[in-house]
Amino acid sequence: MFKDSFKFYKAKWPIPDFSDVLDFDNCTAKGIKEFGLDVDSIYEDVLPGLKPVYSWKCYEIVDRPGLIFIRNPFTPQGQRYWMTRCIRDYPKSPNVVNLSKKLFSQSVIDDWWNSFQNCSDKDDKRRMKVAMRWTTLGYHHDWDSKHYSEKMKNKFPSDLAQLSEFFSKALHLGKYSAEAAIVNYYPIGTTLAGHTDHSEADLEAPLFSFSFGQTAIFLIGGTTKEEKPAALFLRSGDVVVMAKESRLCYHAVPRVMKANLESWNDFPSVYKCEIEPPTNDWDLDTQLFENCADENFWSPFRQFVNDSRININVRQVLREGQLSL
Ligand code: SIN
Repeated sequence: MFKDSFKFYKAKWPIPDFSDVLDFDNCTAKGIKEFGLDVDSIYEDVLPGLKPVYSWKCYEIVDRPGLIFIRNPFTPQGQRYWMTRCIRDYPKSPNVVNLSKKLFSQSVIDDWWNSFQNCSDKDDKRRMKVAMRWTTLGYHHDWDSKHYSEKMKNKFPSDLAQLSEFFSKALHLGKYSAEAAIVNYYPIGTTLAGHTDHSEADLEAPLFSFSFGQTAIFLIGGTTKEEKPAALFLRSGDVVVMAKESRLCYHAVPRVMKANLESWNDFPSVYKCEIEPPTNDWDLDTQLFENCADENFWSPFRQFVNDSRININVRQVLREGQLSL
C-alpha cells in the first residue's frame, strides 16, 4: 500500500491527480481538524522569526493520531534565517555531510557552501549543488549500522535546539532536548523513500520536522507498509511533529515541486519591524538575522532555494536523565 502511494505521487508523466492530498490552506478538507493552543504569557516573548503563538494554525489528521501539523508559523525573515543556516553554516566541518571523498576534495567536504560560492566552473557548480543531499548535526546518524554513538557526536547548534524546545513548550509536549538532526536537501524532482526513525534511545520524545523552500508531498502511513498512507502538502515554513502513536510510523517524500507562492520572499509591511535584532535571550545569530532582510545578502541563497527544498528533522536521542549512550 505504502509503495503504491509512493509510486503514484512520484510519477513524472502523466502528472498525478493531487485531489486526495491534504491541503492545509483549504481548511474544509476532509480528515483535518484544527485545534487551538492554550497560550499563556510566556509565549509573548516569541523566538524571533516566528509569528505570535496565538496566530498559529495547528491541525491534527483524524486518522493519524499523534501527528501535528502547523501551517507556516515562520515570518519570511525567519524562513530565510533557517534556510541560510542550513545552506551556509550547517554543512560545515565538524558536521557530517553526504559528499563522497572519491568525488569531492576535502575542502569541499569541510565547507561546501564556501567552495560552491567560489567555484567558477558552471558544470562543477551544478555537480556540487545536486550532490549535497544531507548534513547531520549533534549525534551523527550512522546510516549503515543505523545507530548513534558517543564517538560520532558534535555540539548541537544552540539556535536550533531553542527552536525545537520552543515548539515543544508551545504545543505542551513537555521538556525537550534536541540532540540530533538531519538536514535534507531536495533539488526539485528528488525523493526520499519510505522509512521509520527508530534509532533513538528515547522513542517517546517527539520528532520535529521543519520544511523550507519548495513544496513537497509528504506521505505518513502506519507502523507497517501495509497501511495506506495519508498524503499532505508541505510548504515552506510548515512544521510537522511526529509524536505519540505517529512517532514510529512510515513516512516518505515522493515528490518535490515548485511552490505556487514564495512566502520567504514576501515581506509584507507587518513584518518590516522584525529587522530589529533579537534580544540576548535567544541564541540566534543576530547579524545573520538582520542580514536576511537585505536582498543583496539573500541573493545567492534565493538562487539556491529557487529549485530546492530543505527539511530539518530534529530528534531527542537520550532518555530523560540519561547522560550518554
Ligand atoms: C525525513 O523523514 O528524514 C525527512 C522528511 C521530509 O523531508 O519532510
